[in-house]
Amino acid sequence: MQKYIMSGLFFTACIVAIVLMFTLPGKDQVAEEAKPSMPEVVLDAASAETVVTANCITCHGDQLQGGVGPNLQKVGSEMTPEEIYSLVSKGKAIMPSFKGKLKEEEIANVAQWLAAKK
Ligand code: HEC
Repeated sequence: MQKYIMSGLFFTACIVAIVLMFTLPGKDQVAEEAKPSMPEVVLDAASAETVVTANCITCHGDQLQGGVGPNLQKVGSEMTPEEIYSLVSKGKAIMPSFKGKLKEEEIANVAQWLAAKK
């Protein structure tokens, strides 16, 4: 009798495991959610230039020619707007994170403006 109870429990545990396998988010999904998603904005070049002048040219140069940070004059041929958005939000090495300092929409606008530089 106990044998049947045990195998019944085992069977139930298997069902639960299978259900969880399909309902819990997979690794890919978790990685996707960790990436900041870029808000949709209509490119406003004038506002992008203002934000860049105030926040970025100290390191990237007044013509974006580079300095402490790399040259950004052709950054659009290497990075997508989403990649730039993510990098500017999170920061990288000595480049500070701008999340909280700039609005998400401002970062997205700057990302699109820079991504158009090819
Ligand atoms: C304190 C200096 C500093 C400031 C301020 C700064 N950056 Fe940077 N930035 C860097 C450095 C250094 C790197 C290179 C990081 C690395 O790859 O190690 C970088 C990298 C980048 C890159 C990637 C370039 C590439 O070719 O890999 C982008 C895009 C960028 N910055 C945009 C911006 C924007 C937009 C701003 C203003 C909102 C900004 N940065 C402000 C220092 C700075």
